[in-house]
Amino acid sequence: VNAQNTVSFLKDTTGPVINRNIYGHFAEHLGNCIYGGFYVGDTSHIPNTKGVRQDVIAALRKLKIPNLRWPGGCFADTYHWKDGIGPKAGRPAIVNTWWGNVTEDNSFGTHDFLNMCEELGTEPYLAGNVGSGTVQELSDWVQYVNFEGKSPMSDLRVQHGRNNPWKVRFWGVGNEAWGCGGNMRPEYYADIYRKYATFMHSNWKNEHLFRIASGANSSDYNWTEVLMKNIPKNLLEGVALHHYAVISWNQKGDAVNFSERQYFQTMQSGLFMDSLIHKHSAIMDKYDPQKKVALVVDEWGGWYDVASGTNPGFLFQQNTMRDAVLAGATLNIFNNHADRVRMANLAQAINVLQSVILTHGDTMILTPTYHVMEMYNVHQDATLIPIAIHSNDYTLGKEKLPAVSVSASKDKAGVTHITLVNIDASKAQDITVNTQGSFKSVNGRLLTSAKLQDYNSFSQPDKIKPVAFNGAAIRNGNLTVKIPPYAVVVLTLQ
Ligand code: AHR
Repeated sequence: VNAQNTVSFLKDTTGPVINRNIYGHFAEHLGNCIYGGFYVGDTSHIPNTKGVRQDVIAALRKLKIPNLRWPGGCFADTYHWKDGIGPKAGRPAIVNTWWGNVTEDNSFGTHDFLNMCEELGTEPYLAGNVGSGTVQELSDWVQYVNFEGKSPMSDLRVQHGRNNPWKVRFWGVGNEAWGCGGNMRPEYYADIYRKYATFMHSNWKNEHLFRIASGANSSDYNWTEVLMKNIPKNLLEGVALHHYAVISWNQKGDAVNFSERQYFQTMQSGLFMDSLIHKHSAIMDKYDPQKKVALVVDEWGGWYDVASGTNPGFLFQQNTMRDAVLAGATLNIFNNHADRVRMANLAQAINVLQSVILTHGDTMILTPTYHVMEMYNVHQDATLIPIAIHSNDYTLGKEKLPAVSVSASKDKAGVTHITLVNIDASKAQDITVNTQGSFKSVNGRLLTSAKLQDYNSFSQPDKIKPVAFNGAAIRNGNLTVKIPPYAVVVLTLQ
């Protein structure tokens, strides 16, 4: 144990509100995310509400998911929304060319998704097709879901059983336009974006649309620069960024059987998010000093080799304590950048990459990442408490990472929460927190397990779950915390 970690609340600085949308999720037509994951159809023996699994609805409600992105990902730029409306028997079957070439029967479409979002109490985030779609098609989609008055698209919606518009605020204008969304150059995409955004009307009787430009691939800073320079701010509410924690794209490593070296590399890649946000934000600051445009990290998470024996196109992976540590540290980074990062989406919610839920037939389990998301939801819409951190090093060979990751906030009821992660794989960490306040009580919850490689399985679904944490105390006005290796903690101070 090393005693040098210190955290100080910077009470003289007022932090921004942590937008709850940082805690967003992502539902893609990929593998068993939609079919078997969210949706089983209303004739299934699995208990469902209009085809959506009730166990999933209950679990996601507890998580308080603020928004859900759909239908992709790469799938979004192949998706034609009109294929997914109207009587299910009449919907065309297409091939899901990005993900396993499986037949997509379009039984889960716009109404199914938007009604499900209402059921979940979450805001939908629709990703429009720019790569293989048209301006008219996306403009029609906006009109179909949002227009109250009489129009060809709203008439069609009413004809398909929905009178009131859903009023969808969040819209992605394509996905990964630099890659699967069309292999475009940023200059070309910026022009395309301007055209699409122009015809996504926001002057109907709806709330203003929040249009999100397809953003950079990780450290492609030029992408952000060109978009910010060339897209007029009256057409742009958010710019996206995608970054996965990956060891190497050729050899991602097994999701469960990994070495400490591989864990370290995953965390190196994951913690790089902090530098990415700093640099993309600095570029955005040049063109938007008032920070009106949000940085939207609409795909993030750990990405490993697909589980052996499963369809390689389905990207199914297990979820261990490594993922819990990665989630906790990444969410702390987002919180601490809440002035610019106002939305993020973990990929993908069910049965794919860093999922919060795994399903198998009629059973469902919650992953360690689910528990982190649940522990951290106290930060949603709370005010960030800016902090200064002095962390020990977590060293492996000649390399080092900060051992400790922290963020803190004060919620609307005046309650302070601190989330702390010990990234070190073998040493406990002692942390002194100078809260500059007179807190009388502290209590907390802890997520850890006997081994870093541990995970929840269908035979042991509750192997990893939060437990009461007794490692924090207030002495002489200072908070002291002792966290075991690879663990995530949330503290409540009153
Ligand atoms: O999350 C899987 C894929 O990764 C998404 O479809 C795509 O946007 C990204 O490349």
